[in-house]
Amino acid sequence: MRNEPYQILALGGDHIGPEVVAAALEVLRHVARQANIPIEIEEDLLGGASWDKHGTFCTDAVLEKARQADATLVGAVGGPKWDSIRIDGPITETDGLTRLRIELDVYNALRPSRAWDPILHRTPFRPEVVKGTDVMVIRENSGGIYYGEPRGRETLADGQERAFEISEYHTHEVERIARCAFEVAKRRRNKVASLDKSNVMESGKLWRETVARIGRDEYPDVELTHLLMDYALLAVTMNPQDFDVIVTSNLFGDLISDLTGAFAGSLGMLPSATLPGIVPIGETMRGGVYEPTHGTAPDISGKGIANPFGAILSVAMMFEYAFGRADLAQKIENAVEHVLRDGILPPDLGGNAMTKDVTQAVIAALI
Ligand code: IPM
Ligand code: MG
Repeated sequence: MRNEPYQILALGGDHIGPEVVAAALEVLRHVARQANIPIEIEEDLLGGASWDKHGTFCTDAVLEKARQADATLVGAVGGPKWDSIRIDGPITETDGLTRLRIELDVYNALRPSRAWDPILHRTPFRPEVVKGTDVMVIRENSGGIYYGEPRGRETLADGQERAFEISEYHTHEVERIARCAFEVAKRRRNKVASLDKSNVMESGKLWRETVARIGRDEYPDVELTHLLMDYALLAVTMNPQDFDVIVTSNLFGDLISDLTGAFAGSLGMLPSATLPGIVPIGETMRGGVYEPTHGTAPDISGKGIANPFGAILSVAMMFEYAFGRADLAQKIENAVEHVLRDGILPPDLGGNAMTKDVTQAVIAALI
């Protein structure tokens, strides 16, 4: 048994962020206690809450704590109060979460989505199309068009404005994310679909060649297919059950993970983990950021009705990837499914359960 407690940094963020983080922390404490896993939780500010107190969306101190932590749990950041704040400089200055991701070099964004049997009717799909769907989008999260240099905006001699950014990948960036995808596939159904626009983009050609080489040389037992990004959107929508792991660039991963999110029936159901790499199953990994993918939902904040499942499932991912306990992640997922089956649903899933009722029901189902 581990004696040294895992250090968890919890950053609630804004609006419903702290509400869902509080719910997820209850589940975290409960499961850790049941399994005899020592943890220590420290809470701090991120996003607008940090701006209001410190005049920056992510302080150096929070960054340092996240660097030292075994895992960081984030709620959600932003809201109308801070939307109009204009700061010159890169996105790392204007967005606290992005600063955290970049400084921690968490390039491996895992965005799972599955169709939950009890709430298939909440999805826009016919049950026979979506039933059993369980996909894991692996989004390269620290390169590509988000960060390529130069970028900018200029006024040309004729008075026109020109705005531009660069889609850029280096071999090593593609190699490392490809390995993450193959490793995650080995934990699952052994299938990887790699998406690119290699028909029009140079960075897409490098992407495809590199993923193919890593697959051939290092993971010959994992089934690899390459799809053009546009066709992939159609294929994933028409035949979602065919997909297991999907690996793609930063921008395309941003896009397709919103589409695959529809399988889960509500944005509130979606967890994520953004990791500084991947380790073999059963091993621990420090420095990951775990967060539900939903936003701060200012319209419902303070009402106690936010859907905590996405945050709770992010804690499940923390057990799997930070603590090397896929068994406990599975246990939390099973409890969530149980609660869904019992119809204890928050308003975004068509019910009227409060955040705290959903959370207590999950805890009660954790056997
Ligand atoms: C996401 C978000 C962010 C992104 C935004 C808020 C910058 O859409 O995490 O998917 O584009 O990466
Ligand atoms: Mg997005």
